[in-house]
Amino acid sequence: MSEITNLIRQDLQSFISYAGSSMSNLKRQGKICFDSNEWFEGQWNRYPDSTQLELRNVFSGFYRVLPEQVVATNGSDEAIDLLFRLFCRAGKESVLVPKPSYAMYKTIADFNGIMTEFFTIDLERGYSTETILEAVKPETRIVVFCTPNNPTSHVMHAQQLSEIVSSFPGLVIVDEAYTEFSTGGSLLDKCGIHDRVVYLRTLSKMYGLAGLRIGVAIGCKELIDWIISVKPPYNVNLAAINEAIQIVSKPEIIQERMNYTRIWISRISEVLLQLSFVKKVYSSETNFLLIEVADSKALSQYLADKDILVRLRPDIPGGIRFSIGNPQENNYFIDCIKTFKN
Ligand SMILES: Cc1ncc(COP(=O)(O)O)c(C=O)c1O
Repeated sequence: MSEITNLIRQDLQSFISYAGSSMSNLKRQGKICFDSNEWFEGQWNRYPDSTQLELRNVFSGFYRVLPEQVVATNGSDEAIDLLFRLFCRAGKESVLVPKPSYAMYKTIADFNGIMTEFFTIDLERGYSTETILEAVKPETRIVVFCTPNNPTSHVMHAQQLSEIVSSFPGLVIVDEAYTEFSTGGSLLDKCGIHDRVVYLRTLSKMYGLAGLRIGVAIGCKELIDWIISVKPPYNVNLAAINEAIQIVSKPEIIQERMNYTRIWISRISEVLLQLSFVKKVYSSETNFLLIEVADSKALSQYLADKDILVRLRPDIPGGIRFSIGNPQENNYFIDCIKTFKN
């Protein structure tokens, strides 16, 4: 039994996955399929391939890992949920997550009866390995961090990841939802596969497929096999699989969208820095900006009245987060925010 299987919940050690999920769609092609109670005709009449053979092969080339080291989930939110449930017993064990960060970590833990502990990201200095390790408790099974962090953009460095992995004996989830926008590149590329590290990627951000719900979990084969055995068999639908294969066949969009985002991030930041009511503009490694203002509620209401929706971040005093849009939207946003009187 490997290191990772030892860490999986004891009561799941002899888990038997749904039998239908062992049949790849590729084996069904050209056959009379009376095995899954589907309708016999139509564009979407067949279940998607539960083993995701074709998609995992394509992702293998795209993320430069082996096909058995990658699996797609229904958004990376589903990967977070499956991992929490694989490693933590309800009411007994906990996950350690950053604060401020992506709120769904706690929401998913709460729904599963799993306890959440927090470690604080210093808003000036960013991630600190000591702070993270000090917050680990005997019941902590998973440490999560988000790099670049939503909403502060702080990044975790390769050295810090390696320090955490060598001192913390549980699973480390590296949420890299925004890594394609980051100038420093991804930890997956720098650190590679480790038995107790799982990297989460998503096609919801730079690849523009949020509505199709495609997340990606990348880790050692044994961990990926565990995710496959507990995931709902048809978690990623056929339309999503087709679009995912299309979009990753255009790697040139990464540089194009990165350049576009960097230009607008710096243009909007420059404008914001001139505004007296803006106290702080966080430097961004993502497709959004985080600012601190004197009265965030008043600003968000003012923008809402002009049909611009932004996200209040009450976990950061005066915090407001907003993403980059098309040039017209960005220019309109600039015109509106310039006229806000605090
Ligand atoms: C840090 C982070 N992780 C994960 C997600 C969820 O992504 P997905 O759409 O793949 O579920 C988000 C979405 O906003 C996010 O900000």
